[in-house]
Amino acid sequence: MKVLVVGTGAREHAIANELKDDVELYSYMSKKNPGISKIAKYKIGNEGEIEKVVDYAIKNNIDIAFIGPEAPLEKGIVNELEKNGIHCIGPTKSAARIETDKSFMRKLFEDYNIKGSLLYKVFDNTEDLNAFLNDFEKEVVVKPIGLTGGKGVKIVGDHLKNNTEAEEYAKEIIENKIGGFAQVIIEEKVVGEEFTIQAFCDGKNLVPMPAVQDHPHAFEGNQGPITGGMGSYSDQNGLLPFLSQKNYDEAVKIMKKTLNAIATETEPYKGILYGQFMLTDHGPRLIEYNARFGDPESMNVLSLLKTSLTQICQNIIDEKLDNVEFENKASVCKYIVPEGYPETKHTEELIKINEKAINDLGAKVFYAAVNQEDDGIHLSNSRALAIVANGNTIQEAEKIAEKACSHIKGNIYHRSDIGTSKLIEKKYKI
Ligand code: GLY
Repeated sequence: MKVLVVGTGAREHAIANELKDDVELYSYMSKKNPGISKIAKYKIGNEGEIEKVVDYAIKNNIDIAFIGPEAPLEKGIVNELEKNGIHCIGPTKSAARIETDKSFMRKLFEDYNIKGSLLYKVFDNTEDLNAFLNDFEKEVVVKPIGLTGGKGVKIVGDHLKNNTEAEEYAKEIIENKIGGFAQVIIEEKVVGEEFTIQAFCDGKNLVPMPAVQDHPHAFEGNQGPITGGMGSYSDQNGLLPFLSQKNYDEAVKIMKKTLNAIATETEPYKGILYGQFMLTDHGPRLIEYNARFGDPESMNVLSLLKTSLTQICQNIIDEKLDNVEFENKASVCKYIVPEGYPETKHTEELIKINEKAINDLGAKVFYAAVNQEDDGIHLSNSRALAIVANGNTIQEAEKIAEKACSHIKGNIYHRSDIGTSKLIEKKYKI
């Protein structure tokens, strides 16, 4: 069987790594990922130019395409591939609206009476926006309706000082059509602990994976600017130190109801559904959905997967998804980034990675935004690579991951606190 993985980063490297032993593997990526290029036949090209990706898939008689990032999903890559008889792990354009249209997502909760949503309102003009915010007494979150590559959401108390600044930013979104819509969504801000649940979906059935907690802040102690994610952990029981089985089940129930609602409202959703939740005093609240695996969260769950990913993909296509097994182990993922990230300071500098020493510790390396050149691997302006380790406890996995990080040299930085008891206990007390 021939499987094409679309996408360039560490998430796609982790997906490819799970498939490589069972299939003839192909990759379409925007630059040469040093990990993927070792295990797959590949073409370098912009994954957003979906007609070129489809051409490549047709020419190579691909059976299944696994779509990593959201941008090609928004452009309807799955519709085009399916028209050409290629099965996909990823939703169609209309089903992907669960991520690509936040107004659609919130309305789905209302129309199908799904619990766990937030107070929200969508605006297309500044007068109504001003009237609403003048009367709204809680702090808010401002979101563009469409995709912004993870850079559009701003939160009062974090990126914005108060609701006045929120209003200014919301006006900017409407006026400049940030995210592709002349609209903005304002949501109530909720406080608690964030967690992620990712699930395999075959249109009708949903199989959830272990819960994961990401760390978006750049610096130790959850300080500094928000990034694409500096690392993440999961626990051996599939829960998290602050997340009970009851809370996990409530979140999964929200996702199952969403899956049914998407099928009724648009088309059956096949692929990975990513739910980002906030655990509040009133239970889990849905912050947002993604129509793909998370990055870094994919690396936690894929490193624990016991069932073959190839078999899961086949079951998704056949609409008979059933039991998926994971190891009863904890996992810790730490991203290595250029020193000073998210500012760009060390672009193009050479780094040294002793992959053998890392693998000897039992840890794995997944490559992200680096450039492979004749003299070795060079940094770019984004996250460079992810280290993933498993263990019987989060602490055991963390220690292995931390040792593994010491085998990478250069002008780089990683958060040594992710997965440590000190940070987890601090979070748990919040
Ligand atoms: N970890 C955040 C994301 O994948 O969007």
